Amino acid sequence: MTSAVAAATGKAVPALAALAYHDGEFVPLEQAQVPVTTQALQYGTGVFEGIRAYVQEDGGLAVFRGRDHYLRFLRSSRTLRIEVGLDAEQLCGLTAELLRRIGSTTDMYIRPLAYKRSLLPGTPPGVQLTGVSDALSVNAFRMGSYTDRGGIRVAISSWRRPESGVLPVRAKVTGGYVNNALAVDEARAAGYDDAILLNSRGQVAEASTTNVFAVVRGRLVTPPVTADLLEGITRDTVVTLAAELLDVETAFHDLGREDLCGADEVFLTGTGAEIVPVTEIGGRPVGDGAPGPLTTALTTAYHEVVRGKDQRYQHWLQAVGSATT
Ligand SMILES: Cc1ncc(COP(=O)(O)O)c(C=O)c1O
Repeated sequence: MTSAVAAATGKAVPALAALAYHDGEFVPLEQAQVPVTTQALQYGTGVFEGIRAYVQEDGGLAVFRGRDHYLRFLRSSRTLRIEVGLDAEQLCGLTAELLRRIGSTTDMYIRPLAYKRSLLPGTPPGVQLTGVSDALSVNAFRMGSYTDRGGIRVAISSWRRPESGVLPVRAKVTGGYVNNALAVDEARAAGYDDAILLNSRGQVAEASTTNVFAVVRGRLVTPPVTADLLEGITRDTVVTLAAELLDVETAFHDLGREDLCGADEVFLTGTGAEIVPVTEIGGRPVGDGAPGPLTTALTTAYHEVVRGKDQRYQHWLQAVGSATT
């Protein structure tokens, strides 16, 4: 349990308690299981989130923008008629409790999942959102930064991002991630690290699990939510930090392939990936082929903020130790 982190840091890291929140209680992780008859397993009718908790300057752990993630989680749930049964504050509280019980002293990734479980008595089998029970699980695991700060190589995928009239792309629906998985698979098979997907209009939507930003003719640009993308919380953090700390306003407008080809900088944003410089797209260097100055400045600011080093953004951090349950 401790070896990978210990090998990377040279420090001994205490083992975590293997626990999850499942069906209303904290249980050993191996008991957090679903039967093969689970509706969400068969039809992709689940919603999820990815949230990070970071070690702060005082050594304690704090969840970054947990309330915003849970508000999105509840919006996603409503799209699929899933009754989570808890509000955002209660979900934040149980997450803090889970992290306390797990006993982590290192950076963590939290994965809430709400899903359609089993047919209620009298409901005939079939693809449906009513007449099916709902369930909630939250699990968490150790995860430090994995982004290559030197930049990654991405392909433009031949898979298009579905439009929101086809699939609710603004909700984090498990079944929708077949599209993302196919795009990543294609990109990796061709030797790239990730894929940028265009929408049905041929404009940039997002990357496989991140939003896309570009510096085009000196302006910071990201596609609008109408470009069929998930409205990322990291995207919002970056827009805020660019404006408030670097005095750089973000323009929300469509980006075409040619904008990416001519961009000075391109980077991706997401909770897991954080901020990732893109140094090559489809065999062409971005700018001069190295992470650009705005990408680097935003990355530095982001890491200060998530670790509580910038007092102005403390409201985005929920200390795990002080949560009430
Ligand atoms: C498809 C997709 N786009 C964008 C993002 C970035 O969103 P966030 O910054 O809220 O993690 C994610 C990750 O959740 C994602 O899965």
